[in-house]
Amino acid sequence: MPLVPMRQILDEAAKKGYGVPHFNVNNMEQAQAIMRGATEVKSPVIMAASKGALKYSEMIFLRNIMMACAERYPDIPLALHLDHGTSVDICQQAIDLGFTSVMMDGSLQEDGKTPREFDSNVEITREVVKLAHPLGITVEGELGTLGGVEDGVGSGKINLTDPDQVKEFVEKTNVDALAVAIGTSHGAYKFKIKPDPDKNLLAMDIIRRIHELCPDLHMVMHGSSSVPQEIVAQINQYGGAIPETYGVPLWAIKEGIDAGVRKVNVDTDLRLAVTATIRKVFHDEPAAFDPRKYLSPSRDAMQKVIESDTTHLAVRVMRLTMNL
Ligand code: G3H
Ligand code: 13P
Ligand code: ZN
Repeated sequence: MPLVPMRQILDEAAKKGYGVPHFNVNNMEQAQAIMRGATEVKSPVIMAASKGALKYSEMIFLRNIMMACAERYPDIPLALHLDHGTSVDICQQAIDLGFTSVMMDGSLQEDGKTPREFDSNVEITREVVKLAHPLGITVEGELGTLGGVEDGVGSGKINLTDPDQVKEFVEKTNVDALAVAIGTSHGAYKFKIKPDPDKNLLAMDIIRRIHELCPDLHMVMHGSSSVPQEIVAQINQYGGAIPETYGVPLWAIKEGIDAGVRKVNVDTDLRLAVTATIRKVFHDEPAAFDPRKYLSPSRDAMQKVIESDTTHLAVRVMRLTMNL
C-alpha cells in the first residue's frame, strides 16, 4: 500500500471508534521497531518526524528511511507526518519531501516557545491548509498549549484548550485534526504522583465538549507516553538518575478515545526503552564495542513497548475494539 493521507487513517478510526498511535522517529532502528510492532499487532500507524528530527537527520536521510518503511511493509497503512511544524516554510519542506500529513503548531510562535494569538494561529494554519489540501495532504493544528519542553520546544506552561474557540478555529482553517491541551505534557516528567483512576487526571470534559461541537474533527492527544515504570527502573538500576515520575496511564488514554481522541502521540516511551537497553548492555558487556550489540536489543525493546498490552495504549485499545 502506498503512503496514505493521515486523514484517511483517522476517518477509519473515527468510524470504528478506536485511536491510532503516532510514534516519533529519528533513525532507522526506531522506524523498523515501529513497523515491526505495527505489523505484529496489525495496526495502521502514523510515523512522525519533528523539526528537530529532520535537522538531526539532515531531512533526506530520515525521509528515505520513512519511505523505505512503506516499501518494506506494504500491508500496513502508513502516514508520514510532520510533528510540531512551527512555520509555513517547514510545512512546505515536509510537503516537498512527500509527507502525507503536516502539523502546523500555530499555538506557539516560530521560536517554538512563545504563545501565539488566536487570530495569528488561524491565519498561519489556514495558509498551510491552502498549500496541503489541494495535494491531498492532511493538516493538524493546535489550540491551547501543552506542558513540558522537548529539545527546547514548548512554552512549558499548560493553557487548556477552550472548546468555544475550537469551532471558530475549525471553520476558519478547515484543519483535519487538532491537538488539544487537556493537561498532558511532553517528556518523561508528566505527573509526580501516581495517577489515581478514581480521580480526574485530564480534562476529559474539554474533549467531550469539542466532540459535541465538532463531531468530524479528529482530536489529537499529545504527550501520551505512559512512562513505563519498569523501564525507568532499569535505567536507574544501570546508572541512570530519573526521579519518580509517571506518564499517562492506559485508562486515561482509553477515556480520551471514548470521548473522541483519534491520534495518540508517543515519543518519550521509545526514548526511555532505548536508554534502558543501552545502559544494561554497557553494564553487562563492558568489553563490547560493536554498536549492533546495543542497537539491535534497543530496537527489540522499542518494539516491545509498541506492542505491549500493559504499556501501550492506542494499539491495545484498537486491538480490543477490533478483536484483532
Ligand atoms: O512533541 C515533541 C516530540 O517529542 C519531538 O521531540 O523535538 O525533541 O524531536 P523533539
Ligand atoms: P511524549 O513526550 O509523551 O512521548 O509525547 C510526544 C508527542 O506529543 C509528540 O508530538
Ligand atoms: Zn507533541
